[in-house]
Amino acid sequence: MTEQTFTPRVFSGIQPSGGLTLGNYLGAIKRFVDMQEAGTHETIYCMVDLHAITVWQNPGDLMRNTRELCAGFIASGIDPEKSVLINQSQVPEHAQLAWIFNCVARMGWMGRMTQWKDKSGANAEGSSLGLFAYPALMAADILIYHATHVPVGEDQKQHLELTRDIAAKFNHDYGVDFFPITEPVIEGAATRVMNLQDGTKKMSKSDPSEKTRINMTDDADTIAKKIKKAKTDPDPLPDTIDGLDGRPEARNLVNIWAGLTDETPQAVVEANAGKLFGYFKQDLAEIAVDKLAPIAGEMARLMEDQTEIDRILGRGAERAREIAAPILAETYKIVGLVKS
Ligand code: TYM
Repeated sequence: MTEQTFTPRVFSGIQPSGGLTLGNYLGAIKRFVDMQEAGTHETIYCMVDLHAITVWQNPGDLMRNTRELCAGFIASGIDPEKSVLINQSQVPEHAQLAWIFNCVARMGWMGRMTQWKDKSGANAEGSSLGLFAYPALMAADILIYHATHVPVGEDQKQHLELTRDIAAKFNHDYGVDFFPITEPVIEGAATRVMNLQDGTKKMSKSDPSEKTRINMTDDADTIAKKIKKAKTDPDPLPDTIDGLDGRPEARNLVNIWAGLTDETPQAVVEANAGKLFGYFKQDLAEIAVDKLAPIAGEMARLMEDQTEIDRILGRGAERAREIAAPILAETYKIVGLVKS
C-alpha cells in the first residue's frame, strides 16, 4: 500500500446554537483567521447546524443564528474569497459520510465521550440518538474534505482523538490508506477561556447568567462592565505565571489579555507585575473593547443584508461540494456501495 499524501487543509466548525462568546472567538475564530492569513493551508469553516439540532432548537431561531454566526465569522476576519464558508446542512455529503462512520464507530467509544456524559447527564434515555452519534458527524465534517488540521479549543480534544480513531479503523477495516489521521491544533494562551464569575468552569453560551461571559454581540459598555465586575482575588499580579497557581480567576484574565493581544501569559504578568486587579481589569477592559466592539458593530451591519449572507453560504456550499463529492464517491466504492 503506498502512502497517500494529503493537501494541507484546515477544517473547523461552530454550532449556531445561539450567541458567540469570547471563548469561541479566542479559542477558535481568531485562530481560524490566523490560519487563513498564514496561507499555508486551504481553509474551510463551517456553521454546524446539524450538530446544533442534536438538542432542541427553535426552528424560527436556527436560521437566524446560522446567519448571525456567518456574520460573526466575516466580521472577525474570515474572508469568503480566501476561505470556504459553509452551512453544514447545505453540503449533504457531511451527513452521508456520517452514516458510514456510524457503522465504523463503536458504541463504547461514543459512550466514553465526556461531552455526551455532560450533555445527557442523568437523562441518557431521554437524549436524542443524534447527541450520542454527534462525534461521528464531526469526524465526517473533517474527513469529507480529507482535512489534515483542525483548530479548536481544549474542550474538543477528545472528539478529535475519536476522529483519528474512526479514520484509522476505516483504513484498517477496508485495507486502504484513504482518510488522513488529522492533527488537532490546540494552541495559544486562550484554548480554554473560563467563566468570569467562576474560574473553574468554562465560559459557555448556555450558562444562565450573562455576567459569566462576554458575547460577541455585546456593546462597548457591556464588555467593559462585565470585565470590571469579573471575580478576582485581593492579591496583586505576580511576576511569573507560576504565581497564578491556585488563582483560577486571575489566571483566566491574564490568559484573556494574552489571547487578545497575541502575547504570552508570561509577558503579560511581567508587564503588569505588582498591579492590583482593579487596575489590571480597567486596562483589560480597554483592550477588549478596542478589539471586540468593532466586530459587534460589523456583525450588526452584515446582518442587515441577509441576502448577501445567503449568497456567500450558497457559493461556499458549491465550492465545498467540489471537494467533498469525489471523496464521498470514492468512499462508496471502497465500502462496496457502488461498483469500483
Ligand atoms: P462549539 O460550537 O461548542 O464551539 C466552537 C469552538 O469554540 C471553542 N470554544 C472555546 N474555546 C476556548 N474557551 C472556551 N470557553 C470555548 N468555548 C468554545 C470550541 O473548542 C470550538 O473549537 N463540536 C464542535 C463543533 C464542530 C466541529 C466540527 C469542530 C462540529 N464539527 C469539526 C471542529 C471540526 C462544537 O461543539 O463546538
